[in-house]
Amino acid sequence: MHAALSSVPKRISPKYFYDAQGSALFDQICALPEYYPTRTEMSILQNHAHDMAQCMGVHADIIEFGAGSLQKIRWLLKAAALPARYVPIDISGEHLQTASSQLQTEFKDLLIQPQISDYTADWQLPPALQGAGKRVIFFPGSTLGNFSPSQAHHFFQQCAQHLPGGALLLGVDLIKAPELLHAAYNDAQDVTAAFNLNLLARANRELGTNFDMTQFAHSAFYNAPLQRIEMHLQSLCAQHVQLDGQRFDFAQGETLHTEYSHKFTLTGVQQAASMAGLQAGPVWTDPLQWFGLLWLNIPSTLETAR
Ligand code: AVJ
Repeated sequence: MHAALSSVPKRISPKYFYDAQGSALFDQICALPEYYPTRTEMSILQNHAHDMAQCMGVHADIIEFGAGSLQKIRWLLKAAALPARYVPIDISGEHLQTASSQLQTEFKDLLIQPQISDYTADWQLPPALQGAGKRVIFFPGSTLGNFSPSQAHHFFQQCAQHLPGGALLLGVDLIKAPELLHAAYNDAQDVTAAFNLNLLARANRELGTNFDMTQFAHSAFYNAPLQRIEMHLQSLCAQHVQLDGQRFDFAQGETLHTEYSHKFTLTGVQQAASMAGLQAGPVWTDPLQWFGLLWLNIPSTLETAR
């Protein structure tokens, strides 16, 4: 938080949204009428899980990043041929433990190894399982969109380094009418606003800051040239906040930037992935092409990026 308030302009990583309350609010967002990505991606998974399972092959070792409530994986696990293991990775520990226990009751024979860690920092994946098939990273939800283009490149490079011969099944939100994008991040019930503002409430709870919750407003807008939703917390007046005895000033209208949510084209993602050596495979979308799931193969030998 110190770094966040010291940087110019002020900004913080969206990973800090996800304490227990933030994770619960995010689950509420996923069910909002305006927030189409979750529903749409679920319908694609439901309709095409069989094809995806075929790409995975038998005894796949499935690793999911930002696994959250473990809703999406169910379709893949049902369709997969004897998956060897499922490793859900998330930063929100309590939430992940509860969801993993629940999943284990539904898939009694599956080896589930939840891992509480931050995949945006350095990767620490469990070693490959003896006798397992392909190692597959499942990265749904368009969480890739939180990354800057250079962070996304780094992510693809990490995939290439850590999973030679494996694959990435990636879900991305596609570019669409700005009105639809805007509504998805400015819902009528203000759940997204509560999710955004929870970041300040969390800092007050855990770090002893004194953010005045009534003097900050949720701001989310589509930046069309840069193809991304930007979320900010905007100061409604000139004010200051204390952190560890240090004072940080906010001018009226100044923002703390909390999240990018980039929107993609299918070919754009394939091109970006190919820069790290990943090879495009099948693509699945919904009839309106609002959301896409892409299969990307990781070559078994590291080739120089073209
Ligand atoms: C989970 C990061 C993909 O960017 O759409 C939802 C988070 N933020 N509403 C997204 C989010 C505001 C979500 N991701």
